[in-house]
Amino acid sequence: MIITDANDLEGLKEAGNAVALTLKKMLAYAEAGMSTKELDNYGGQLLTEFGARSAPNLVYNFPGNACISLNNEICHGIPSEKRIIKEGDLINIDVSAELNGYWSDNGCSIIIGKDLNNMQQLVNTSKNILERAIMKIRAGVKMNELGGYIEMEAKKRGYKVIKNLGGHGIGKNLHEQPDCILNYKEHLDPRRFRKNSVVAIETFINTDSTIAIELQDGFTMIGNKGGFAVQHEHTIVVTDNKPIILTENNGIFDIK
Ligand code: CO
Ligand code: CO
Repeated sequence: MIITDANDLEGLKEAGNAVALTLKKMLAYAEAGMSTKELDNYGGQLLTEFGARSAPNLVYNFPGNACISLNNEICHGIPSEKRIIKEGDLINIDVSAELNGYWSDNGCSIIIGKDLNNMQQLVNTSKNILERAIMKIRAGVKMNELGGYIEMEAKKRGYKVIKNLGGHGIGKNLHEQPDCILNYKEHLDPRRFRKNSVVAIETFINTDSTIAIELQDGFTMIGNKGGFAVQHEHTIVVTDNKPIILTENNGIFDIK
């Protein structure tokens, strides 16, 4: 959406805050021995306290409140009682929700306990790229330039980007135009970021894969060549200067 008045900005900030604090608390709550369902129930409770409703559940009938993806899963992992979080697991929690007609989306990958698989550099890379990519966004910046930057920075550190997933417009619904704000430079893409538009910017960085494939469950996505997957995401408002980060209270740039 394009923000047209102060009410829009206020509503978006409230929705952004709800998903941000829910994500922050879920990240702190996640620990080895817990099922992803237990973690999701906690997130659902938090969203309800904010008066917010899970976006994937509303829009896609997703069987859970938040997407919780482990290790090789790229996104849209389904919370399950059978899925027990283990020490050293790479976990991605993605929380998106609607509040009073406004929608917001954010996500973060962390390592549970000790870094048994040496994935801290992967996590840091994704987080740093998101932070610096967001600071490059201004009204008029080409979307494919941003994608080129994300891919270049990932490659420098020996990683790959997922090519068939990306950021998206948001605000009056979970997924709006512009869609496919990609993590690589699509040369034929002429689109530029527009002033006062609301977009979710997300990284999809991987140790081995470049394409995400959906599993039989209809939601979970894994890489075509395996490997560990990370994602970090904020919802922002594009301006003539630094963007307004609507989900900044998730504190993901401060998490180790
Ligand atoms: Co998301
Ligand atoms: Co998103």
